[in-house]
Amino acid sequence: MTTHSPNPVTATGNQVLPGPLSSDTTGHALIPARAYSGLAEYALEQERIFSSGWVWAGYAHWVDEPGMVHPVDIGGKPLLIIRGDDDQIRVFHNSCRHRGMAMTDEPVKVRKRIQCAYHCWSYNLDGSLHATPYFTRERTRAVPDGAEHLGLLPVAGQVWAGMVFVNLALESAEAGGTDQIDADFAAMLAPILARWDHVDFNRIHLAEERRFDIAVNWKLVVENFLDFYHLPFIHPQVGPVSASLDVDDVRLADHILGGCYPHGAAGKAAKTDEALPFLGDVPPARTESQDIFCVFPNALLFLEADWFQVIGFDAAGPERTVEHMAVFVDETATGERFSTERKRLTDILFEVNEQDMPILHKLQSGRRSPAADRTNLVTHWDQITAMFQKLVSAKVGY
Ligand code: FES
Ligand SMILES: [Fe+2]
Repeated sequence: MTTHSPNPVTATGNQVLPGPLSSDTTGHALIPARAYSGLAEYALEQERIFSSGWVWAGYAHWVDEPGMVHPVDIGGKPLLIIRGDDDQIRVFHNSCRHRGMAMTDEPVKVRKRIQCAYHCWSYNLDGSLHATPYFTRERTRAVPDGAEHLGLLPVAGQVWAGMVFVNLALESAEAGGTDQIDADFAAMLAPILARWDHVDFNRIHLAEERRFDIAVNWKLVVENFLDFYHLPFIHPQVGPVSASLDVDDVRLADHILGGCYPHGAAGKAAKTDEALPFLGDVPPARTESQDIFCVFPNALLFLEADWFQVIGFDAAGPERTVEHMAVFVDETATGERFSTERKRLTDILFEVNEQDMPILHKLQSGRRSPAADRTNLVTHWDQITAMFQKLVSAKVGY
């Protein structure tokens, strides 16, 4: 297969990146159809993708206050996101150090400690072991010798832009992370931080969050997010066809792929009485642009001047994905004054996501066809999707 693109710039002046697709359609899917429903393929992806690098795990607002404990599943492993008394967010394996019982399978708020329900060992919010009642069959709460090795096992975790990321492949020496973990995460994010250096993500505030539990393989969710071709057909409310066609491919790194509508938000402010305040000091060249990126594998980000949308998801099964979609606005846009505008915004964004649901289900059912191994991505639209599929293939070995 040749690696070139016939038209790096389209007639509309938009960027088409060279990628894995040649101008001749090949009739060979880059990922085999079985990878969209097979248990063995799913298990491999859980290890080689979701347990082998930085992965979206949840939202910081799920643990808004000290003592909040939120269980999640990443790479098939149960984890706990905990906010400590020191306001730090830490992540641990959700497995008691005695017999391995999950500490909780529901979000909870505790006062100072989290206690296992089986034999009542308890742990401080920093994961350290606090008490092991009757450990010696005596009436004592004393912790055993070596208790410093019996804390909840920490997982490398980081917080950025309202999101919690974990990396199950990094050794987390102590809860709270190390300089090396910080550096590794910063290196992963560097390409998108550079592109979005005009945004102050400390200012973002949740407008609304919704959960979508869908009977679809996770890769279809990402591929649909990176598919700009379907916009005029499925989401006509986002603007005229000319606006839908005005999109550039953008590859920030192997693991940060997406696109940009340079004028996607043009004229939007005029539609409402009061525009939302911007997320920072947005330069004039960027006030109308929309950036859409997948931070591989499971953080799907959408940024405009005045809002930030995240779809983070759990690849919960070969044919099941649980999306957690959150819309953030500037902290000054949270009050009553902007409530109408906020609602209008979130309604439209959730409606767009709903419109994709029947598409996703039919993409999934189409994978049962023998023709699903003979699909044809096209150079003018699908190079970014092809790059995503190549990355998956390289990591899993398809
Ligand atoms: S399994 Fe948790 S205290 Fe025994
Ligand atoms: Fe869509």
